[in-house]
Amino acid sequence: MSNMNLHAEITKAVEILRAGGLVAMPTETVYGLAADARNPLAVSKIFTAKQRPNSHPLIVHIAHSAALTDWAIEVPKSAYLLAERFWPGPLTLILKRRPEVLDLVTADQDTVALRIPRHPVASALLAAFGGGLVAPSANRFTRISPTTAAAVQEELGEAIDMVLDGGSCEVGLESTILDLSKGQPRILRPGMILPEAISTVLNQPVSVLRQDYPAEVRAPGMHHLHYAPRTPTKIVTTEMLHSMQKTALPAVLLTISDFIPPGNSGIVALKMPSNAGEYAHILYSTLRQLDQNQYQQILIEAVPDTAEWTAIRDRLTKASGQHQE
Ligand code: TXA
Ligand code: MG
Repeated sequence: MSNMNLHAEITKAVEILRAGGLVAMPTETVYGLAADARNPLAVSKIFTAKQRPNSHPLIVHIAHSAALTDWAIEVPKSAYLLAERFWPGPLTLILKRRPEVLDLVTADQDTVALRIPRHPVASALLAAFGGGLVAPSANRFTRISPTTAAAVQEELGEAIDMVLDGGSCEVGLESTILDLSKGQPRILRPGMILPEAISTVLNQPVSVLRQDYPAEVRAPGMHHLHYAPRTPTKIVTTEMLHSMQKTALPAVLLTISDFIPPGNSGIVALKMPSNAGEYAHILYSTLRQLDQNQYQQILIEAVPDTAEWTAIRDRLTKASGQHQE
């Protein structure tokens, strides 16, 4: 988008949002489906468009940390410390909500999720709109988050009023979600901002919510098969690769090691980056491209069990539904 075009597009997007419409916007993580966070009718359209149950709360995107107190009460000092270090950027903070925040936004909980995104188009939109925008990932419920404008069109085309094209998302995975509303800070959804980095800023330990979290916590991705391709998807360890039996074919294999399947195996290998940031950046667009019915199976070589790969491991586990076993 050129500057002239950007200005005109933002003006049009703001008009749509003020009228209660839906606009898909690029962020540095994934594309979001934005609506006026103060307009109940607009917010309800998001749930319809995404076919998302009302029990899943939304993130409110704001332009400045000065706006935190428009949405949250008892904002702890830790929130401002993290805002200063990581915003704008891929971190979402869960804080105690103000009573007037819409129940549809918070799913009736006493907390609200807030974030300042880093993409210039999102920043321009938020500045011009002047209020909070709820924006879940712009995909249908349980599907892979879109990281390009074309993917948004494919997911939600008819259901939305406008798509702002901001190119491909830099990070490629959804934000880290950190709960600051109850005692010790706790990560509810891993992202590319790591617990260690948060812990360093806060000078305090940060806990990480496990898969066996209590059912009353409405944590992201608790639904079976979240972020999932339609093609059956399976994680395989590097050792398994070497002894792989005939499986549903043709299959594609995303590798990070140097493993190359034998020529007659019916398995096509696709080498992924060995750097976590680069892997995250292309993961969703790669899965989306491989999910066009050309394969019976998507196989994914397990990624390292280290901190920087945690968010990727989490999304791969959910894409394969293997946490159910
Ligand atoms: O990177 C992102 O966070 C992207 C971009 C568009 O900003 N947004 C995104 O939104 O991933 P969504 O709706 O797909 O995921 C947000 C998750 C939801 O699954 C929800 O469970 C969780 O945030 N969430 C929202 N409010 C919450 C709250 N008050 N307490 C706990 N979890 C909350
Ligand atoms: Mg989502």
